Amino acid sequence: MFISVEGIEGCGKSTLVNGLGQHLHERNIDYVITKEPGSTSIGKILRSILLDKKQQISPLTELLLMFSDRLDHLDKVIKPSLEEGKIVITDRYIDSTYAYQGAGRGISKSIIDNLVSQTEIMLPDRTILLDLSPEVGLKRASTRNELDRFESENIDFHERLRKSFLDAAGDNPDRFITVDAEQEPDKILQLVINKLF
Ligand code: TMP
Repeated sequence: MFISVEGIEGCGKSTLVNGLGQHLHERNIDYVITKEPGSTSIGKILRSILLDKKQQISPLTELLLMFSDRLDHLDKVIKPSLEEGKIVITDRYIDSTYAYQGAGRGISKSIIDNLVSQTEIMLPDRTILLDLSPEVGLKRASTRNELDRFESENIDFHERLRKSFLDAAGDNPDRFITVDAEQEPDKILQLVINKLF
């Protein structure tokens, strides 16, 4: 089973992903927790470029760097783990590309759709969307670290991301589980476990 967790900055993805891992560990179920960008040695280099505020990166360059990370991630982590029968949980995947590079940076959906089909990127079985207002998310994100290249974008950018994620959820009701991320982390975890397993 291939699961992705998505949402805007500060929505609580890491907490949920760790909680899901703990749940599977306690039940002796084999799983892998992973993330994008930055889960392979190539991906780590790409991540440091992508998040670096000092870099000037055009939208298309950013899109292709994200896809390079994803293809390497699929080859080296996601596909081998699924073939071994493990549950794979990734913190961000393709819906982040439609949100950030599509709605955020203004790249047309058809360009991203074409890349998805040409590279034969697999879709997750289930996607958890932690939905939160950007005001709350960015406040949370700013208290934990210095804001990166994406987090430092203005509130309109983050509003567009939220809308893109909600639109994707609306278009793919069988794949998405949308959760109000203002709830307590334990409540969110329980809700997601009940829906997933
Ligand atoms: P995160 O690990 O804190 O979520 O940081 C990853 C950043 O990369 C986050 O700001 C979202 C961004 N991102 C994209 O812009 N496009 C993508 O396709 C992915 C996977 C992440």
